[in-house]
Amino acid sequence: MRSAILISAICSLTVDFVHTSADGLPSFEIDYDNNRFLKDGQAFQYVSGSMHYFRVPRADWRNRIQKMKAAGLNAISFYIEWSTHEPEPGIYNFRGNADFEYFIQLMREEEMLALIRIGPFIQAERDFGGLPYWLLKIKPRVNVRTSDPTFKKYVKKWFSVLLPKLVPHLYENGGNIIMIQIENEYGHNELGFCDKKYTTWLRDTVQSFIGYRAILYTTDECDINYQRCGSIPKVYTTVDFSPLSDEVECFGYMRQVEKRGPLINSEFYTGWIAFWGQPRPPRNAQDIVTMMKRVMAYNASFNFLMFHGGTNFGLTSGGTFVGGSSLDTAVYMPQLTTYDFTSPLDEAGDPTEKYFEIQRVLREANFSKNTIPTPKPSLKYSYGTVNMLPVTGLLDQVPRNLFTTVTNQKPLSFEDIDMNQGLVLYETVLPGNGTAARLPLTINLLRDRAIIFLDHAKLGTMSRSGFNTTMDLLVTGSKQKLSILVENQGRCSNGKFIEDRKGILADVTLGNQTLGPWSMTRYPLNDTSWLTDMDVLPDVRTPAFYRGVFVVPEDGVREKPLDTFLDPSGWTKGVAFVNGFNVGRYWPAVGPQITLYVPGALLVRGLNTLVLVELEEAAEDLTVKFVDKHRLDG
Ligand SMILES: *[C@@H]1O[C@H](CO)[C@@H](O)[C@H](O)[C@H]1NC(C)=O
Ligand SMILES: *[C@@H]1O[C@H](CO)[C@@H](O)[C@H](O)[C@H]1NC(C)=O
Ligand SMILES: *[C@@H]1O[C@H](CO)[C@@H](O)[C@H](O)[C@H]1NC(C)=O
Repeated sequence: MRSAILISAICSLTVDFVHTSADGLPSFEIDYDNNRFLKDGQAFQYVSGSMHYFRVPRADWRNRIQKMKAAGLNAISFYIEWSTHEPEPGIYNFRGNADFEYFIQLMREEEMLALIRIGPFIQAERDFGGLPYWLLKIKPRVNVRTSDPTFKKYVKKWFSVLLPKLVPHLYENGGNIIMIQIENEYGHNELGFCDKKYTTWLRDTVQSFIGYRAILYTTDECDINYQRCGSIPKVYTTVDFSPLSDEVECFGYMRQVEKRGPLINSEFYTGWIAFWGQPRPPRNAQDIVTMMKRVMAYNASFNFLMFHGGTNFGLTSGGTFVGGSSLDTAVYMPQLTTYDFTSPLDEAGDPTEKYFEIQRVLREANFSKNTIPTPKPSLKYSYGTVNMLPVTGLLDQVPRNLFTTVTNQKPLSFEDIDMNQGLVLYETVLPGNGTAARLPLTINLLRDRAIIFLDHAKLGTMSRSGFNTTMDLLVTGSKQKLSILVENQGRCSNGKFIEDRKGILADVTLGNQTLGPWSMTRYPLNDTSWLTDMDVLPDVRTPAFYRGVFVVPEDGVREKPLDTFLDPSGWTKGVAFVNGFNVGRYWPAVGPQITLYVPGALLVRGLNTLVLVELEEAAEDLTVKFVDKHRLDG
């Protein structure tokens, strides 16, 4: 009985395989004869929503799950992000916000089923599509998402840690996981290859741990070639498409590959990705309603992506490329810190118009029978204006002594010096022969953005997105120090340019001279504790660390401090920390995201600390505000 999926995928099955649950054991399977799921022998359809544990504070997981249930959903879909759990080879993290088993357990307590997308590649608009950065430093180069033996070795090792954790949560083992997705939109032709040996190997590896106790599936976009390449024999094929697509066409492609079984839209888009310097794309609630009704007329199961987007806390947001035939001609576009996505539950977990429309349609269709009260927006609080004090410049001696430096004749990439995220300061002494001259300085491969200093005086910025990686330098002829502060703005999350190493990847030249040797200082921007006890230095210049304190008033009524938004208007570009937690990049100078979401769970009653790492220009009055309104379209 447990092998119903495999057997039924091979031959068209008869209902004999169907578990009637007469033996009292839970079962979840595909009834190929009737194009539906059977859950404990009963016809079943899911309406699920995506929410990623790594984008929502653990303290708010239950609250968001309850709200999804109140909307009428019966399942939640989420990715597991390898880079979160194995940040360095063989070093694992499953605690706190990385504790997905607790997330699954909370879903179970709220009677929500789970659809898990285990990757190993997930895209998800995350840095390197959720793959760990350290794969990029392995020599010789690893071909990710292929049968490359080195890649498979690391995937297998990771899956041997991950999959045993999922086994007790499988539906047929008494848990709530009904489906497990392998890879992610693998059929997309941007990849330029279709390594079926790799995907069938993934299937066999997953099955070696979980057997047939959950339905394995794939998800690919609405295109027959993508569907064909992405599908894996004996793994259930599904499609994804937006409310503006043609569902007849999309389900038609799915049917060409998966002849029978329930129709599924695994990514029913409620909104879209957003980038720095570009307006956020709109998505109309009415289009969602219209497509829901059409999809429901097929008795299809579907998953809203996203139902609750959340936040790319820290430096986890990815980038993408537009156009171009090579990595160096494509336009690199970094994604926002917010992953609000204009989804039905907004970044702070509040219901929007889309939420109420979806809830109404599910109720009218009698899909949802629950009578859970509709959630109200949570209260927000303006904690007011914070006076920031400059503590130290990034180029000053104190932070330098705290951060490690490596030296090499040629500049090294972030990956080659074991740097995942943050900043690297590349420094060299210019060759001087006593004659002053104006010469072009060129960074031949810059990823992604650089601030250039000569003897610590700022000369300007260069950026890969803007294709400006050269500038004239007035060289005096004495031994001048050139400093280049390089920011990783997020590795590409998809497509053929996925191997997006960061830093300076080729020679830097001045006129016709190649510069070097280089010293490289690492600022991972993952800790601010060292700042707490530092005295404020005089004459601090940007880029610099700024510190301020603010008070969360005592309040006898509420369990926890209220959510708020950090408004860095007047500041230019940098990273903010609240009580040592990196709440993400800010860049109000280009927008559209102005404010950063600061969940109440990060705050404590009494004194709280705010640190800003401002890379360009601080606000003139050195103040920043906590406000009660989000501004994502500034
Ligand atoms: C949907 O399911 C209902 C109830 O089982 C059935 O009567 C109807 O024919 C199905 N519709 C489609 C398009 O499969
Ligand atoms: C939903 O249930 C109500 C009450 O049983 C019924 O009147 C209504 O027709 C049903 N709606 C649909 C779309 O089946
Ligand atoms: C000396 O330096 C200047 C400017 O850097 C340059 O124009 C000139 O060619 C250099 N001369 C030699 C001998 O390198």
